[in-house]
Amino acid sequence: MAQQAKMTIDKDFVIGEVDERIYGSFIEHLGRAVYGGIYETDHPTADEQGFRGDVLSLVKELQVPIVRYPGGNFVSGYNWEDGVGPVDKRPRRLELAWRTVEPNWIGFNEFMDWCRKAGTDAMMAVNLGTRGIDDARNLIEYSNHPSGSYWSDLRRSHGYEKPHNVKTWCLGNEMDGPWQIGNKTSVEYGRLANEAGKAMKWVDPSIELVACGSSARTMPTFPDWEATVLDLTYDTADYISIHQYYGNPKKDTPNFLAQSVGMDSFINTVIATCDYVQAKKRSKKQMLLSFDEWNVWFHSNEQDRKLEPWTIAPPQLEDVYTHEDALVVGCMLISLLKRADRVKMACLAQLVNVIAPIMTRNGGPAWKQTIFYPFLHASVYGRGKVLVPLVKSPKYDSSEYTDVPYLEAIAVYREEQEEVTIFAVNRHTDEALPLDIDLRSFGAGSIVEHVVLEHEDLKATNTEEFPDRVKPHSAGNAVWSDNGHIEATLAKASWNVIRLKLQ
Ligand code: AHR
Repeated sequence: MAQQAKMTIDKDFVIGEVDERIYGSFIEHLGRAVYGGIYETDHPTADEQGFRGDVLSLVKELQVPIVRYPGGNFVSGYNWEDGVGPVDKRPRRLELAWRTVEPNWIGFNEFMDWCRKAGTDAMMAVNLGTRGIDDARNLIEYSNHPSGSYWSDLRRSHGYEKPHNVKTWCLGNEMDGPWQIGNKTSVEYGRLANEAGKAMKWVDPSIELVACGSSARTMPTFPDWEATVLDLTYDTADYISIHQYYGNPKKDTPNFLAQSVGMDSFINTVIATCDYVQAKKRSKKQMLLSFDEWNVWFHSNEQDRKLEPWTIAPPQLEDVYTHEDALVVGCMLISLLKRADRVKMACLAQLVNVIAPIMTRNGGPAWKQTIFYPFLHASVYGRGKVLVPLVKSPKYDSSEYTDVPYLEAIAVYREEQEEVTIFAVNRHTDEALPLDIDLRSFGAGSIVEHVVLEHEDLKATNTEEFPDRVKPHSAGNAVWSDNGHIEATLAKASWNVIRLKLQ
């Protein structure tokens, strides 16, 4: 058993209110995310529009409040007009980002219908790769203007009388990346994003805009990219994006489990850069963060290289997640919560089949990957006030990071419901971690449940044949004693959700 870890929380020490949109996700026209994922006309559970009912129920279970669409790298070569109007008149296009054929069976209006059915909002992205100001303002007019203009009347003629009123718009995607169609320098992008954003807000002043930040902390242009882009877009943009994926290609699990330490630092550096630009501009506006792509992504890299190009919906980026991946996802969720004061949107990339918590077989079932569970728990129980986590934990050094705490933890307080939930990961792969939580400021209460996600085999996965190999149980041993402390033992390599009811 490892040395004891301690956590102190106080109901008055609040980091910030969770914006529920941090539990967002992402559907890109990529692989089988759309075709075979959310949409499959001849699937036994398909509805009258061809949306898979089994996938819809799993998405609803996750309570995803916002879904980014249609990309991703895809958006930088996409003509949104290809995806509206009569389906039989829509073109098939070579899709250059992922080297597939895009049939355009699903487009903007159908996606909005799917969002309504899933009980979620859309976060739309505009193409600032091959296109620009004109198409961006046309799309806003098509989407959000009631009627009496060319694009709004075209929408009505397509059967959508009422405007979609999409509130959140991304100004392009990963424009710092050489892999991006229409990759730009920070000055080229910043100028274009500002002008496109201005025009979009002139069409609908109620929208919110996300400017592209760096596509990873390792990009050579980070964080100068943010400084320049923010300088050029500060008055127009409301959020700057962050993207980050982690993997364990070297099979170095202690280091893989430490990756969220880098994510904390990434978030803090972007916030510092935002605040630097705010100070420079003597602005009263505080820039917020949209962490609109995050996840584990590496398992599928090899098999993707073998795929034939120019097919419709090939099985791309189909990572089959392990137990240890779920722990990293849990740590990443805690990182987002730790900066709930500034990270107001985030998207688990992606939602179905493509690096996703939900997997399907075409014509077959849908099942939950290991990473489904930490995301589910955080989305369902992690809404409220995030409390400052005073954590004292034994530490270790990994190949990349020093002083990595074995305990990663955060608490969310739902004052009205008189509930507190503690999310905790034990990064120790060989030993259980005893934990003492001091929560005297809350007075008395009881433990509702101590949910644990654990598995003997760190590489265990859920598959169509064994969909429940990795799943949580509620037999954790947390006990709330009279002296205002909770004592628990966190199993080795485990994700824990300790749910409390206050008296
Ligand atoms: O989510 C997969 C891809 O990752 C997205 O298309 C892109 O934005 C990022 O590089």
